Amino acid sequence: MAADVTSLRDWRFSIDDQGIAWAVFDREGESQNALGRRPLEELLVIVEHVEAAASDKAVRGLVFLSGKPGGFIVGADVREFEQFSSEAEVIAAIRPVLAMLDRIEALPVPVVAAIHGFCLGGGLELALACHWRIATRDDATRLGFPEVRLGIFPGFGGTWRSIRQAGPVAAMQAMLSGSMLRATAARAAGLVDELVPSQHNLAWAARKAIARGRRSKPAPLLKSMLRQFPIRPILVSRMRAETAKKARSDHYPAPYRLIDLFERTGGNLTTMKVEETPAFAPLMVSETSRNLRRVFRLSEALKAQAPKDLGFTVRRVHVIGAGVMGADIAGWCAAQGYEVSLQDLSGEAIDKGIAAQEKLFSRRFRTRALKAAAKARLIADPRGEMTSRADVVIEAVVERLDVKQALFRDLEAKLAPHAILATNTSSIMIEEIAPALADPGRLIGIHFFNPVAQMPLVEVIRGAGSREAEVRKGCAFVTAIDKFPLIVKSAPGFLVNRVLAPYMMRAMERVEAGEAPEKLDEAARAFGMPMGPIELADTVGLDICLNVGRILGYDAEGSRLAKLVASRKFGKKSGEGFYTWKDGKPVKAVRPYGSSELATLGKALVEPLIAEAERALADGIVETADLADAGIIFGTGFAPFRGGPLHYRAAQGGAAPRKASE
Ligand code: NAI
Repeated sequence: MAADVTSLRDWRFSIDDQGIAWAVFDREGESQNALGRRPLEELLVIVEHVEAAASDKAVRGLVFLSGKPGGFIVGADVREFEQFSSEAEVIAAIRPVLAMLDRIEALPVPVVAAIHGFCLGGGLELALACHWRIATRDDATRLGFPEVRLGIFPGFGGTWRSIRQAGPVAAMQAMLSGSMLRATAARAAGLVDELVPSQHNLAWAARKAIARGRRSKPAPLLKSMLRQFPIRPILVSRMRAETAKKARSDHYPAPYRLIDLFERTGGNLTTMKVEETPAFAPLMVSETSRNLRRVFRLSEALKAQAPKDLGFTVRRVHVIGAGVMGADIAGWCAAQGYEVSLQDLSGEAIDKGIAAQEKLFSRRFRTRALKAAAKARLIADPRGEMTSRADVVIEAVVERLDVKQALFRDLEAKLAPHAILATNTSSIMIEEIAPALADPGRLIGIHFFNPVAQMPLVEVIRGAGSREAEVRKGCAFVTAIDKFPLIVKSAPGFLVNRVLAPYMMRAMERVEAGEAPEKLDEAARAFGMPMGPIELADTVGLDICLNVGRILGYDAEGSRLAKLVASRKFGKKSGEGFYTWKDGKPVKAVRPYGSSELATLGKALVEPLIAEAERALADGIVETADLADAGIIFGTGFAPFRGGPLHYRAAQGGAAPRKASE
């Protein structure tokens, strides 16, 4: 008896009059398709149904499509990963999925994946089990294996199937980097068989592929020879070297385990198929993967602070101040598709600021037309004539209360009633600026970090009198420009600078006490920080560090830091600081340090940061420990695989973090 396909909730299934079965994935109650338990169970119902219908000659082919406008399948459902507490449970959950994908591949009729938008992780693995993959050339279409970012690698047969189709170089590169490919690149790699201009062409192209009995060919012989001896060992050592540049094996084991798997079994994909699950399962239950999944959830929690419906659409952004920050904020917003006007007292500063965005646009846009469009969206507005048309106004002028107050006083009357009004100040309290306004509740802080393009976090500052609706609107804007918002209370240093300051100050004191900067930096990196505290201080600028330190009440009088600043040694930007800088890099004396010595020192170095994070939470700077961890990971790069400073403390057996209200 055929399985029941009429009562599916996450899929729509139909067979048309030409005998083509259409399986449309449209997960109930979700904006995106993720392959969770129920969609997979229902997929099995579909597969069984098609098997029976194909043997009755009632079906000539099967097409997988998405019912979501924005994407095909974003991957397996990460939320469900948490239910596994042992390798055996992981293996038990994966086996039936693997068997089902094999059944899809073994169907006697052509099976086509018709892809538009994101096709990631488990979604790509499902597509790879199909006989023919069609993707839209649309810019929104992206294919990839982001698993390494979650501390795992593809576990639904993606390792050997991608290598079979794309050859070891392209497939391993995709899996090891976790980066997403555009449709054209995926086609060139062999992960996709056919491209169509847009979503409207998918069904027709799928129908044609079925009529012609299309079947994707495995990678050509030349590519598959790369899997064999003697080339495989050469590839493997190159992959290890490339991976080592990006991630340490003790912190991020997943890519290294994938390379091991390829090294052991790459010559025979049948063996690789058998070995994938036992190599995958320990990663899934590892502490690293748990923490990286936690970071993923935290990023979702940050985005969830934004209201779904703003009541208006942000189209135009007006930035005042074309200095270091203002120009880059304006450039970032223009790159994100917004119309941006940039105002400054100095026409020269505006021109320089706009010209400086050239680099970002070139990096971001591949075609000349897209780059030209971004440039056209960013305009000079020396007199602030666009202010009244803006949906968001961000002030980033010099850090002086009188200047900011005068500016806001003048601005207020010109603003559209719905517009978001924000300051990028890093040290003046919102409560000090706001009294200049007739409606002080309107003002919020939107605090970007330098360099704007690289820093994923933006603090949204709630002043004592800021209206909640304005704060939420600020979060919506930050999310819309593809940054993570973190709501913080207006207080010196907000969250990120407040926790960084003691970490960096204590490290600088250690240098003064005679410890080598190289050793301190290496120890922090061994802990998992992206950059050591001394190199970070030199990179940020020692003058800025000194200033932030003063604002936060650190007595730097007579310190090495103060002396360096007094002799105009500002670090990277002046070529001399704690280090001497050559070609944008610090000159470091290489000395071998023992790993246990570094581990102990690394933990000691981050101690002041963790302690300050606890105090900031207790002071109510952020609402929850999770939000503090999220802010510190995305604002400072704090070792993501450790799950955040407060989580790390708790995991080490420290006291549970307390909120102000507790
Ligand atoms: P900057 O000194 O590089 O640029 C300030 C710009 O504002 C100058 O081009 C100046 O001509 C212009 N300006 C001054 N008064 C003006 C007015 N009344 N109307 C229009 N333009 C005026 O300053 P920077 O570093 O970009 O900082 C700007 C703001 O961003 C400050 O509030 C600062 O605290 C904050 N901030 C700075 C960060 C940094 O790393 N530099 C990081 C985060 C926030």
